[in-house]
Amino acid sequence: MKIATASANANIALIKYWGKRDEFFMLPTKSSLSVGLDALRTTTQVEFSNTDSILINGIMADDETKIKILRFLYFFRKKFELECCFSINTTNNFPTAAGLASSASGIAALAKCLNELCALNLDSKSLSVLARRGSGSASRSILGGFNLWHKGLSGDGSDSYAEQIFNASHWPEFRIIVAIVQTEKKHISSTEAMQITTKTCKTYNNWLTNSGRRINSMIKAIENRDLEAVGELAQVDCLEMHETMRNSSPSINYWTNKTIKIIELVNSLRNNGTQCYFTIDAGPNVKILTLAKYQAKIVGELNSLPEIQQVIASGVACD
Ligand code: PMV
Repeated sequence: MKIATASANANIALIKYWGKRDEFFMLPTKSSLSVGLDALRTTTQVEFSNTDSILINGIMADDETKIKILRFLYFFRKKFELECCFSINTTNNFPTAAGLASSASGIAALAKCLNELCALNLDSKSLSVLARRGSGSASRSILGGFNLWHKGLSGDGSDSYAEQIFNASHWPEFRIIVAIVQTEKKHISSTEAMQITTKTCKTYNNWLTNSGRRINSMIKAIENRDLEAVGELAQVDCLEMHETMRNSSPSINYWTNKTIKIIELVNSLRNNGTQCYFTIDAGPNVKILTLAKYQAKIVGELNSLPEIQQVIASGVACD
């Protein structure tokens, strides 16, 4: 029996995606830019089967994940006019419930497996378009390095895909340190929170304009391997994104006191000469952007805090 195996890495947005212009086609309101994390990897095996089944780290997927994947399989079969079912066995080398972007690496690895198993010969652009239909940020996990997910203009999403703008060897010293303070599921899904924000936040359009303008500055900053510029742009973008959530009705807040404690540590380290910056997604955990020479110091400081559950230090994903 033929089995397809593929891997994909999680990614963290330096310039965020927050909001869809089309729910059905999973089209974003703006472009976003991310970095792949080599320490957070999903490996998936898929084979043909009589029914669809999904195992994640050896156990049946929870209902929410199952619905997400079944919806993706439904779309996949329709698009490629297939009638087969799939047995999916996926493993994350990081805690699945840690509020990290496991759906991005999970859907990207699945898209690669389906491409191989069904002999579709899709290139990385088409794979990114395909993965986007399962989870927006998954479009940025097909390739490693730094990825720019183009918002696109067409109604069917054919030009809304992620493109690698720099590979891992461009910046070997770049590090992303994930500070996990909470492993419970988020109280509101990013899909729902995005809907509330785009519908009710009066300052949302300001963020769209400001964040959209930051993309080119971020590309320049990465090109110049300028951590200060990358970090400051990423921080502002993340703070403004969370502000749009707070300005929504009902107001949405993913931060906890533990999140604020880590932000304070990052600010104090930076003020004392350890170059580091934070970014936060739809959850309370904090991702710290820094360079290899500061990694040991930052990991040590984080581990001394009672708020910390786990620290994962990562370089830029290859591929
Ligand atoms: O793809 P989703 O639904 O997990 O949305 C991701 C949204 C953020 O992580 C908050 C931002 C981003 O660009 O990854």
